[in-house]
Amino acid sequence: MKTMLLLAPLLLAGTPAADAGPAADPPGEVATATPPVRYDLRRAQAVPGDAQAGKAKAEVCGACHGENGIAPAPLFPNLAGQPAAYLYWSLQAYRSGRLPESPMTALAATLQEQDIRDLASYYASLPVPPPAPETETATAGTDAALAGRGRALYLDGDPSRGIPPCQGCHGDDARGNPLAGYRDRSGRLPYAAYPALRGQQPDYLRTRLQQFHGQAIDASSNSRIMEGVGQRLDADSIEALSTWLSSLNE
Ligand code: HEC
Ligand code: HEC
Repeated sequence: MKTMLLLAPLLLAGTPAADAGPAADPPGEVATATPPVRYDLRRAQAVPGDAQAGKAKAEVCGACHGENGIAPAPLFPNLAGQPAAYLYWSLQAYRSGRLPESPMTALAATLQEQDIRDLASYYASLPVPPPAPETETATAGTDAALAGRGRALYLDGDPSRGIPPCQGCHGDDARGNPLAGYRDRSGRLPYAAYPALRGQQPDYLRTRLQQFHGQAIDASSNSRIMEGVGQRLDADSIEALSTWLSSLNE
């Protein structure tokens, strides 16, 4: 993953704008077979939406995700500042039953393609809470030793257990993949749908990591990537990572 970071300027430099290709194509691999085939997000195209229209459609979401996309309870995920592509593909995955059953399954089934684009644009446009200035791990009410283990794992991984540094894929500030804007020669955006983790709700993070650990998520090629990481995380690592990441917006 470090290599990926080092290559970033090179890859970006080698991507002329003229190569950008069609921007508004409907998503790539939308298979309708049963059981559902996972999305191949290495081939994902840009899926623009209208944030203003999304705001009007988001009224029903606020009860669980907060009026400003910051959830009022730790079991519900924050959506504010999450990359639009990640939100878009998550909603598609709920709608088509590719994610484990949750309140989102029935809700997403009522959304049309344009709603999903608009909602994704809207929540992506909202600001995440500002980062704490200095001693991020010494937050009051947080177990500092536990959070410290989470921070170390996030930044350095643990080679002895085959755990890669999370920051290689989720960004050194946990705001998403550093290559999110990179387009390949066909105009595809292979890293755009990598989620931000900064300040995410602790219970939600724990649940998701446990699901990846137990191989319960198989929505897309991206789920496969994260599943490989999740399998290597034990209960203490999951607790440590959830504690540290959720403390970052305080
Ligand atoms: C009744 C509560 C509820 C409402 C209303 C609701 N959600 Fe959710 N949402 C959840 C829960 C719970 C999860 C986590 C589900 C899981 O574990 O898969 C979630 C997850 C999500 C995710 C995935 C986030 C991530 O980080 O992977 C997205 C995107 C999302 N919701 C969007 C929406 C949108 C858009 C609306 C309005 C149209 C909405 N939700 C309305 C409860 C709700
Ligand atoms: C090789 C790249 C890669 C590495 C390394 C990686 N991740 Fe991920 N992670 C992803 C991708 C891609 C997704 C999106 C999965 C999906 O859409 O199903 C993801 C999803 C997640 C999610 C779900 C977020 C949400 O909102 O639902 C969490 C939590 C997470 N990763 C935590 C971690 C932690 C903690 C580490 C380090 C131990 C880590 N990741 C390392 C690529 C990576």
